[in-house]
Amino acid sequence: MSHSPSTTPVLTIDGPSGSGKGTIAALVAERLGWHILDSGALYRLSGYSAIKKNIDFSDIEELVNNTLNMSVRFESGRIWLDDEDVSLEIRTESAGNNASKVAAIPEIRSCLLQWQRDYVKAPGLVADGRDMGTVVFPEADIKIFLDASAEVRAERRYKQLIEKGLSANLAHLVEEIRERDDRDRNRTVAPLCAADDAVVIDSSDMAIESVKKQVLEVVKLRLPDLVIA
Ligand code: DC
Repeated sequence: MSHSPSTTPVLTIDGPSGSGKGTIAALVAERLGWHILDSGALYRLSGYSAIKKNIDFSDIEELVNNTLNMSVRFESGRIWLDDEDVSLEIRTESAGNNASKVAAIPEIRSCLLQWQRDYVKAPGLVADGRDMGTVVFPEADIKIFLDASAEVRAERRYKQLIEKGLSANLAHLVEEIRERDDRDRNRTVAPLCAADDAVVIDSSDMAIESVKKQVLEVVKLRLPDLVIA
C-alpha cells in the first residue's frame, strides 16, 4: 500500500551520508510540527543488532527474522533497541558501514518497507533517507534531494563525531564516505538517486539555516494552503 497524496502530507529528504539530511529533517519537522522518520536509523539498528547477536550477514533468513523482531523506541531524541539505549552506538562509522551492507539486501529493504510507511501520522511526516521519495513514499507531496561534495560531507561528519566524543580521522572519513556512496548508489535495489520530481539542493556552500529556508519555501510552494504557525 503506498501513501495517498490526498491524506497526511509527506515531505521526503533523500541524499548521501553527511549531506545534512538528518539535521535539516529535524529542523523542518520542528518548524512544521510534523513527525519524523529517520529511516537510516532502522538500517543501522538492523546491522547493529545482527552484529551483537553474531548473525552472519550472508544468513539472510536470520537477518530478516532478527530485524522483524527488533523492539525499537524513538523517545525524546534517544533510540532504544530491546530496552538498551543505543543512540550513540549506532552512530559510529562502523555502524554506518554495517547499515549500508544490510541495506543492500533486498529482503531487508522489503521487511522495513511497511514499518517505514506506518510512520505517516497527522499532521505530517518528514522522512529522511536514501529512497524515501523513490520507493517508500513515491506519492509524497514534497521531495527534496540534498547533496554536497564528499569532502564537505566528511568534514561535517568529522565535527559531529568529535562533538559526540567519538574518535575520527578526516582522511579515512573521505575514503569511507566515497565507498559508502558507491555502495548506496550502485546497489541493485532502491539505489540512492533523486526522484524525477525532487527538488535538488546542493548544500556544499550553504549554511544550515539557508538550506532550511529553501526547503520551507518548497513546502509553501507545494502546499500553498498549509498554515505554518
Ligand atoms: O542516513 P544514515 O547514514 O543513517 O544511513 C545509514 C545507511 O543506511 C546508509 O549507508 C544507507 C542505508 N540507508 C538506506 O539504504 N536507505 C535509507 N532509506 C536510509 C539509509
